[in-house]
Amino acid sequence: MQDTHDQSPDPRLHRLRELRAQTQLGGGADKIAVQHAKGRLTARERIELLLDKGSFREIDAFVTNRPAAVVARAVQKNAANGAILTDGVITGWGTIDGRLVYVFSQDFTVMGGSLGQAHAAKITKVQDMALKNGAPIIGINDSGGARIQEGMLSLVGYSEIFLRNTLASGVIPQMSIIMGPCAGGAVYSPALTDFIFMVKNTSYMFVTGPDVVKAVTHEDVSFEELGGALVHNSVSGVAHVAADSEGDSLYLLRLLLSYLPSNNMEDIPFVKTRDDPLRTDALLDTIIPDNPNKPYDMKQIIRSVVDDGQFFEIHEHFAQNIIVGFARLGGHSVGIVANQPQMLAGVLDIDASEKAARFVRFCDCFNIPVITFEDVPGFLPGVSQEHGGVIRAGAKLLYAYCEATVPKVNVITRKAYGGAFCVMSPRSTRGDLVLAWPSAELAVMGPDGAVNIIHRREIAAAPDPAIRKTELVNQYKEEFANPYVAAANGHIDDIIEPRETRPRLINAIEMLRNKRDSNPPKKHGNIPL
Ligand code: HXC
Repeated sequence: MQDTHDQSPDPRLHRLRELRAQTQLGGGADKIAVQHAKGRLTARERIELLLDKGSFREIDAFVTNRPAAVVARAVQKNAANGAILTDGVITGWGTIDGRLVYVFSQDFTVMGGSLGQAHAAKITKVQDMALKNGAPIIGINDSGGARIQEGMLSLVGYSEIFLRNTLASGVIPQMSIIMGPCAGGAVYSPALTDFIFMVKNTSYMFVTGPDVVKAVTHEDVSFEELGGALVHNSVSGVAHVAADSEGDSLYLLRLLLSYLPSNNMEDIPFVKTRDDPLRTDALLDTIIPDNPNKPYDMKQIIRSVVDDGQFFEIHEHFAQNIIVGFARLGGHSVGIVANQPQMLAGVLDIDASEKAARFVRFCDCFNIPVITFEDVPGFLPGVSQEHGGVIRAGAKLLYAYCEATVPKVNVITRKAYGGAFCVMSPRSTRGDLVLAWPSAELAVMGPDGAVNIIHRREIAAAPDPAIRKTELVNQYKEEFANPYVAAANGHIDDIIEPRETRPRLINAIEMLRNKRDSNPPKKHGNIPL
């Protein structure tokens, strides 16, 4: 319907409309064209794709980087007069699947999305609102870092953002999408958030860029090689998700949010499923190879067990010897940690320990039960691991599991050897329920290694050492490499048929729904960082 008053608007309305139109232009049509030519969307286009249609409510569009007096004169003339409206970041709130989220989206067309005082103040305002109102905050990062012209005020702005990232940690989910360059100080706010999404070929993160690297270390390196999406998703582990395009990253972020509560006081989301909670899968009965040294794909087990086979993997390309991610069981969100026998035999090393530790801590912050699928031969031996601090890294995972008070359910599919057994959430570190498949082997170490140590002299003295060793290995397997000794001690709660895993896990999650547990009062613990 046409508004009759639109024919001759009040001059004050006219001014508002003109200025508002100006806020939509960012750095102008030319800069928008350059952004598009690089295969990137604008800050506003990204918000439109991220949020439910029509739900975005912007605030602070009239903020500029100029002092108030300059702005006042400019506004009188109905023009911003060089005072750039929005100051290079679009902020506000909207909904994703009907749930409130706060968002900021840096506008590279305005001074390269660089962060000055006003720009920072806009971000901290929505950070404060998100924390106070208990809703997730999503940062879309596309920035050349600290705005050089604003000197240390930019650095102060960054520090104010970092403080809020830290205070909000564990209270509301904080997500970052990197959609262009993310240089200098710009990297540390994402690094303090819970999840970092990057876009392949168009997004980069680095503290110092290729030119500085060349000057200091004489290394020749491209943007992509130094800090591209694949590097940070597979080598450094800084990023958690690598998306094929900007649209894909926004879609994946929406999907991830569907598993998470809006804050640490809210119940985890429940999504009704048609997948029968009593569904069994006979294929699981034969998935473990007869030869205990043969690999199999743990992801096949995960997909078979969870609702509709849907598994949202985090850190898919990093430390692939351990798998972490979100799924649903009987409609309830769960976090899954699983050793992957297909990669390095599922051994725990520095990267795998840190990856899983951070994930377990995230789940614990937000009351998401942790399901652990265990098949771990131990920690990776080697000088580089020992010198790299595998002791400290392993202790992080141990600490994370011990500290976690959320429901913790463990399914031992095959090996649970040595220190790795202690790390991966046994009953003795407050695991709530430990189920084992008949193929489970629980022992201080594998049969070969154990027999070599405890029967070395006997084997050497035997008329045929090889035959004697085989006999002793078989004897050891019978004694230890099975779940029955642990079950006899109550360290395993039940031995189940693999096909029953889904119904047993759903039953466990429902049984543990009202679990209450807490840690002794303290300021905070001292996880071995
Ligand atoms: C002010 C900046 C800027 C910055 C870019 N621009 N970075 N303005 N401060 N930090 C401006 C450019 O002058 C240019 O303005 C526009 O943004 C686009 O930049 P281009 O260089 O033309 O774009 P592109 O070729 O795509 O290169 C993007 C880039 C590059 C890789 C980000 O601009 C760059 O290297 N910038 C500096 C990155 C950096 O070293 N930041 C660290 C700052 S120190 P015009 O007017 O020409 O369009 C820091 C420390 C904080 O962040 C520490 C806190 C803990």
